[in-house]
Amino acid sequence: MSTPPFAALVLAAGQGTRMKSATHKVLHPVAGRPMLAHLLATVETLGAARTVVVLGAGREQVAPLVESCGGVVAVQSEQLGTGHAVLQAREALAGFEGDVLILYGDTPLVEADTMQRMLARLHAPDRPRLVVVGFRPADPLAYGRILADADGTIVKMVEYKDATPEERAINLCNSGLMAGRAKDLFELLGEVGNANAAGEYYLPDAVSVAKRHGDRSAVIEADPWEMAGINSRAELAAVEGEWQRRRRLRAMADGASLVAPDTVWFAHDTEIGRDCVVEPHVVFGPGVRISDGVRVRAFSHLEGATVAAGATIGPYARLRPGADIGEGAHVGNFVEVKKARLGAGAKANHLTYLGDADVGAGANIGAGPITSNYDGFFKHGTQIGAGAVIGSNSELVAPVTVGDGAIVGAGSVITRDVAADALALGRGEQQERAGWAAKFRAAMKARKKA
Ligand code: UD1
Ligand code: CA
Repeated sequence: MSTPPFAALVLAAGQGTRMKSATHKVLHPVAGRPMLAHLLATVETLGAARTVVVLGAGREQVAPLVESCGGVVAVQSEQLGTGHAVLQAREALAGFEGDVLILYGDTPLVEADTMQRMLARLHAPDRPRLVVVGFRPADPLAYGRILADADGTIVKMVEYKDATPEERAINLCNSGLMAGRAKDLFELLGEVGNANAAGEYYLPDAVSVAKRHGDRSAVIEADPWEMAGINSRAELAAVEGEWQRRRRLRAMADGASLVAPDTVWFAHDTEIGRDCVVEPHVVFGPGVRISDGVRVRAFSHLEGATVAAGATIGPYARLRPGADIGEGAHVGNFVEVKKARLGAGAKANHLTYLGDADVGAGANIGAGPITSNYDGFFKHGTQIGAGAVIGSNSELVAPVTVGDGAIVGAGSVITRDVAADALALGRGEQQERAGWAAKFRAAMKARKKA
């Protein structure tokens, strides 16, 4: 069945006071990206014809994200209720004749499948005027309640504040999500008043207006987890925790071993191959791609990094944005890699900083070398050739190139390019004075006695 084009309408004008934050509520991240970005990404995959986000205070913080997703901002300067918020999008949706999917900016985990079910229900043969998403949370708290027939026809929607004890005992709650045809929505909401306990224009009242006109609305049910709203930092943490729990299960189902799943943290876009082993306490920031058979050892932190098959990372490794680790390469403990490529089989096993660097295949970086990539004003690159050996505790002062197969002696400070297969030494020459230490000791002992 084909459905008409749809517009996504995200309500996010609420103050979010319970977050106690200078940052707009919908910009707080879940799995490493703003909660609003989760929603915008989902509606994008479904191919929303238009995206409108209703914002109030702090909208200048949020507008760039909305615009970067091709959406527009509608302004609700006074928060007079969810119904009033929807009406503020009338101008942005002028001329739009498709369906409207109403979402909440602080309910970010709604899945594409649920959105699709809302639209499909709207176009089912009985053609309900509105479709509402209900859910049955473990604790129904102060959510609005939905009274419905067994077939999902809505009898009544009531806000907790306005509900009788009998109505409050109902456990089918209003998630707030609703779908309707654009024209219908604005017509119905035009008739909604604010004579209620909160003095607000309630979006759910559109259902009773439709009913007055003899039209039925339908409820569909969704997983309570998807409907979890975020109003406080504690709820943010709870949603993050549940997101992580599910992501870990998916990683394992897809063929990665997590030794201690509860201690591994993923980002929204982490990609991890088969037969990878992730040891305890590993954090994946945004932008990480891990191929098959990689071992990420304990206490490693990765972000913006690509790791090819069979590589070993950590323990205690830090891969920063632009780290590109080749097949079978090793990055060991206390090694930091930023914007640097490590060729296949290359090794940097101990105490190293590689920044703005290109390390050839099979090169061996000893214990403690660093690239000095920053002169206080500009960043410079370092090239290390295939099969080169960089001696322990040496320093490569960029821009500099070490040729293929060259060896840099331990403790060197390398400021000039090194030719392929050469030995480069850049350190004070060793001197030796026979018997000097014994003589020194004797003299000092004598002085102490005196
Ligand atoms: C609303 C529903 C309630 C439902 C609950 C689910 C109404 C009247 N009540 O509660 O039945 O159980 O959501 O979470 O719809 N917003 C605006 N402008 C406003 C008011 C709200 O944009 O004037 C936005 C908020 O930013 C938020 C969403 O709408 O994203 C919901 O607002 P919130 O105040 O959290 O919900 P309630 O009205 O309490
Ligand atoms: Ca809310």
